Amino acid sequence: MYTTDLSGKGKAKAETATAEDPALLAAFEARVANDEFIEPKDWMPEAYRKTLVRQISQHAHSEIVGMLPEGNWITRAPNLRRKAILLAKVQDEGGHGLYLYSAAETLGTSRDEMIEALHSGRAKYSTIFNYPTLTWADIGAIGWLVDGAAIMNQVPLQRTSYGPYARAMVRVCKEESFHQRQGYELMMAMAAGTTGQKRMAQDALNRWWWPSLMMFGPPDDKSPNTEQSMRWRIKRDTNDELRQKFVDITVPQAEAIGLTVPDPALKWNEERGAYDFGEVDWEEFYAVVKGEGPVAKERMQARQKAWDDGAWVREAARAHADKRAAAKIAAE
Ligand SMILES: [Fe+2]
Ligand SMILES: [Fe+2]
Repeated sequence: MYTTDLSGKGKAKAETATAEDPALLAAFEARVANDEFIEPKDWMPEAYRKTLVRQISQHAHSEIVGMLPEGNWITRAPNLRRKAILLAKVQDEGGHGLYLYSAAETLGTSRDEMIEALHSGRAKYSTIFNYPTLTWADIGAIGWLVDGAAIMNQVPLQRTSYGPYARAMVRVCKEESFHQRQGYELMMAMAAGTTGQKRMAQDALNRWWWPSLMMFGPPDDKSPNTEQSMRWRIKRDTNDELRQKFVDITVPQAEAIGLTVPDPALKWNEERGAYDFGEVDWEEFYAVVKGEGPVAKERMQARQKAWDDGAWVREAARAHADKRAAAKIAAE
């Protein structure tokens, strides 16, 4: 689905490379400044590696945990067409998680380490998935807003400086674009439906609007990693720039289908050529980052259960691989 670097308040500042060979560091920085991709076997500063492992693994976790709120509705989709769309979308998210775990593994971390960090609560994932999906309209709101915000974050990542991450994003972005469209189309249908359906669509927009704005991460002045990440071209736009872009694109989409964005401070600013909008509730954001989201515990229980239930598959795959390796040795 998405991610930006979630480590805001209270986190250590990006480690700056001090003890590293200045010649190697200068060569690395020159390559990055020249918009060259850095590849797995290239030399890179330790802090760059760490930042990427954190960001890519958070992104992977977000894709995987992001399957849960929507997966919850697959058996209750109102018709075959909607069910097929939702199934395809949730499967795409699983695929995104797997590309991203693979991209992170090229930096020297293992899948097991990343999964363990997620289950033990040490790793973060997007706060948005700790909110519940209460009605069918939430499926529309998620596609439209959450995947819409994801695209805003991920399009610039196609040009991020780490090659495997950038290449994974190319396919991910194509799929996210389908996710956003199906969500908006669902909302459009609901907004043009019965009074009850329209009310449901408006209610979903009311509940998902602010958490969607939180997806861009803390405000720039509270985002200690942004400066270093921009210099290393891991990030190409700041959190606030992306948030503004999202608001400017999404507000007219809401108006076009007769829904109201739940922000009394929202107003077109002629001078800036952009919308002014209200303040995000950052206290809520930090609480959810800390794991206090409405369904955070349920999400981790569901992931842990899926992991435990899958143990026999991993064991069988390992036994099969061992058997094949032994047969190959015997044949040589
Ligand atoms: Fe998506
Ligand atoms: Fe995704």
